Amino acid sequence: MSTASPVPAAPSGTGSHGAAPSGAVPPAPRLTPTTAARLAADLAALPYTTGAVEALLGAMAVSALDREHAEAARAVLAAGVPEADRPLAAMAGAFMLGDPVPAADLAAAVPALGLDGLREAGLLMDAHPGDPEGTVRAACDLSPYDADEPGPMWVASDQTALQRRGPLPAEHVLGVGRASLTLAGAVQRRKVDTALDLGTGCGIQTLHLLAHARHVTATDLAPRCLDYTRFNLLLNADVLGLDRENPGERVELLTGDMLTPVAGRRFDMVVSNPPFVITPRTDPDAPVMVYRDGGREGDRLVAEFISAIPAHLNPGGTAQMLANWEIPAAESGADDGPLASASEGASSTSAGPSSAESWDARPRRWVAEGAAAVSAAEGRDVPVQAWIIQRDLQDAAGYAETWLQDSSLELDPEQYQRRYAQYLADFAARGVRGVGFGHVWLRRPAADGSQAGAWTHTEELTQPIDDAIGGAWAAAVARRDRLAAGRTTDRAEATNHGEGPAGGEGAVVGKGAGTDPALATLRSLHLTVAADVTEERHQRFGAEHPEVILARQGAGFRRTARLDTATAGLLAASDGELTVGQIVGALGALLELDERAQTALLVAVRELYEDGFLVEVG
Ligand SMILES: C[S@@+](CC[C@H](N)C(=O)[O-])C[C@H]1O[C@@H](n2cnc3c(N)ncnc32)[C@H](O)[C@@H]1O
Repeated sequence: MSTASPVPAAPSGTGSHGAAPSGAVPPAPRLTPTTAARLAADLAALPYTTGAVEALLGAMAVSALDREHAEAARAVLAAGVPEADRPLAAMAGAFMLGDPVPAADLAAAVPALGLDGLREAGLLMDAHPGDPEGTVRAACDLSPYDADEPGPMWVASDQTALQRRGPLPAEHVLGVGRASLTLAGAVQRRKVDTALDLGTGCGIQTLHLLAHARHVTATDLAPRCLDYTRFNLLLNADVLGLDRENPGERVELLTGDMLTPVAGRRFDMVVSNPPFVITPRTDPDAPVMVYRDGGREGDRLVAEFISAIPAHLNPGGTAQMLANWEIPAAESGADDGPLASASEGASSTSAGPSSAESWDARPRRWVAEGAAAVSAAEGRDVPVQAWIIQRDLQDAAGYAETWLQDSSLELDPEQYQRRYAQYLADFAARGVRGVGFGHVWLRRPAADGSQAGAWTHTEELTQPIDDAIGGAWAAAVARRDRLAAGRTTDRAEATNHGEGPAGGEGAVVGKGAGTDPALATLRSLHLTVAADVTEERHQRFGAEHPEVILARQGAGFRRTARLDTATAGLLAASDGELTVGQIVGALGALLELDERAQTALLVAVRELYEDGFLVEVG
């Protein structure tokens, strides 16, 4: 940690598996307020932006780079670029490809900071043997990063396997990866006072949080990560609205294991892409890749985190994270196991009892443990709300392959085979058949009663969804809140856990829907079909009626709902003029629906409303 840094990182607690830099990686770069301002001015003037790089390299080379292949970009640069583009080519070649570049070109890219300034900031490393005369090399990745909020930035991180041309070291500091973007896009953003970014890495989530949080606490087990975060904060201070002389006013950097550095503290928002990857811990020689391995057995780290987090939330506070969860064979239910259960686009309530219900047993238990823990600590019943989305499901072998390839172990076949076998043995020892991946959202309801009740909603969404799902997700939560005042039971609780008769709708009807205040609220709403929803009918030639009617969302979660005649009729009639209750009454008369069938229709409408097929007018 640089003592000159204006963002102090207070050490607090040591990790269960400290990962001191081994010498395989250079120290993280560092900036002072002055050098940060100079470098930012140079990069802005160049300009070093995603658009400029794409104009230079071409779209094909840039998408190949995104897939960690540099040859197409190298070919463009080797073919020669116009004189005026040489400084930009030097920046991209050095900091995105990890190649030696002409020193004079790189110097021209940073006239204010200069090559000496780059070197002093730790952004350059010694030439490799065989590097051409007069060239220099970057010591890290420094890439432009486009974000609508807070705006375009630059992000420094350790060199990737592509840039290093070799496997990643255990101390690797991750750049902006797919998972970082998935989480950043899923965060339900709102103005908050305090936010926590746990396992900040290069600080990417913190950069986003600063757009809507007055103060952000960023933690990491690895001090090198916090050095990178500090670098990125100072470099992007202008767009972040940070005072370079006093960034500590808005950001605090803490070293330590998981929640240890923030013991006893509460936040309005917690965001984390934690080191959730499951790695066999049987081999003491196996390196702990600190950027992804939590160092615990199986999914213990995620379990501990989910069950501990409610105690760190203010009333109305939310936590969002990415996670893996193990699916034990015993919970996989049907013979075809958990892997047959991921049905594309399936609604959580569309299936009856099947193996699909079981993947969520463990995450649900962790949420319940979190509620119990915070209630015990506070000596009163503290409700916790949770929404857990399983996006992917892999069997044990597929999971092993994914993460062995992630650390480029296929370059070493002997190690690859040994570790593959360890993975299989580790999963077998715990009776694990599959591993789920997805989003976890937790909330401690606000004290004013506007977010009533304790509920856990789980669903599998394996279809492609929007990258930036946060807005659609927040709107879905708001619609649930709208009905929550009167909710007697969560629909997933009712269907997944046998609280009512089998079958989604029957379960809620059995609860006495006539007196369910949530349905009473629903009856009073003026709804219309959301703008992105289209109807799809499948009808045999010559048939009088369609056999299948589907409603499809063109945005957000991109769900598909199968409709019966009554529900399709209700959607067709929902133009916002009549209330839901009026339309149900009219359809009841037209289709001769008895009271039970009308209630079933209302329950289906509730689901379509909560899922965003129907929205309130105005
Ligand atoms: C998957 S990376 C996420 C980085 C970044 N937040 C993002 O969204 O891309 C996980 C981060 O957790 C950190 N980490 C690993 N073990 C940890 C622990 N026990 N406690 C806190 N942070 C830890 C790693 O150093 C790494 O920066």
